[in-house]
Amino acid sequence: MIRLMEVNLHHHLLLLLLLLTLSLFSQGHAHYHLGKEKVTHLHFYYHETIRGDNPSAVVVAHPKDTIVNASNPGPFGTVYVVDDLLTEGPEPDSKVVGQAQGLYVSASRQRTLIVLVIDYGFTSGEFNGSSLSVLSRNPVTESERELAVVGGRGKFRMARGFANLKTYSLNATAGVVIVEYHVTVFHYDQ
Ligand SMILES: *[C@@H]1O[C@H](CO)[C@@H](O)[C@H](O)[C@H]1NC(C)=O
Ligand SMILES: *[C@@H]1O[C@H](CO)[C@@H](O)[C@H](O)[C@H]1NC(C)=O
Ligand SMILES: *[C@@H]1O[C@H](CO)[C@@H](O)[C@H](O)[C@H]1NC(C)=O
Repeated sequence: MIRLMEVNLHHHLLLLLLLLTLSLFSQGHAHYHLGKEKVTHLHFYYHETIRGDNPSAVVVAHPKDTIVNASNPGPFGTVYVVDDLLTEGPEPDSKVVGQAQGLYVSASRQRTLIVLVIDYGFTSGEFNGSSLSVLSRNPVTESERELAVVGGRGKFRMARGFANLKTYSLNATAGVVIVEYHVTVFHYDQ
């Protein structure tokens, strides 16, 4: 008799857990509908300074026994954290339209190539408060590169797309690079 009650109690607990789990899952799924899909093109410039008094990219780690300096800024395994400005035009004092925040790692043993994990957050205009998430390799010495846009926040929720990059200018002495971005984003009406 006692054994039987124990078994029943177990069954009840299991059933309760199962129901709880199911209701948690269904809450997440059922009530969100994507709007109509649309395409947006964005154009901006990315400014990065890796040296000087106020760098926008800093080395946080590199392999033991490697030296990171002006002539060797990214040996394999180097990790940079960035908080870079995005602007409308290429000039350093051009209107700021966003911030690129995240990190990249030097991820090739053969060549200069980084992998980015960066949130491009917009701070003006129609997409103020929205962002794009990039997770992609970037062979920085090639004149044209493509990055994968894998998601976003706000008006770019559930976005996918790609960014075409060209180095606009590079001053190795000052450690300043300006990159032109053309981004094509597929996202949804909200
Ligand atoms: C960077 O470090 C290497 C290795 O120590 C050295 O040969 C080179 O001169 C350094 N470059 C600069 C710009 O400090
Ligand atoms: C962007 O949005 C923030 C937060 O809502 C607001 O404080 C700011 O004034 C907006 N900026 C522009 C340029 O619209
Ligand atoms: C690169 O930066 C250095 C140091 O700020 C500056 O003296 C030099 O004029 C710059 N070079 C170019 C081509 O702008």
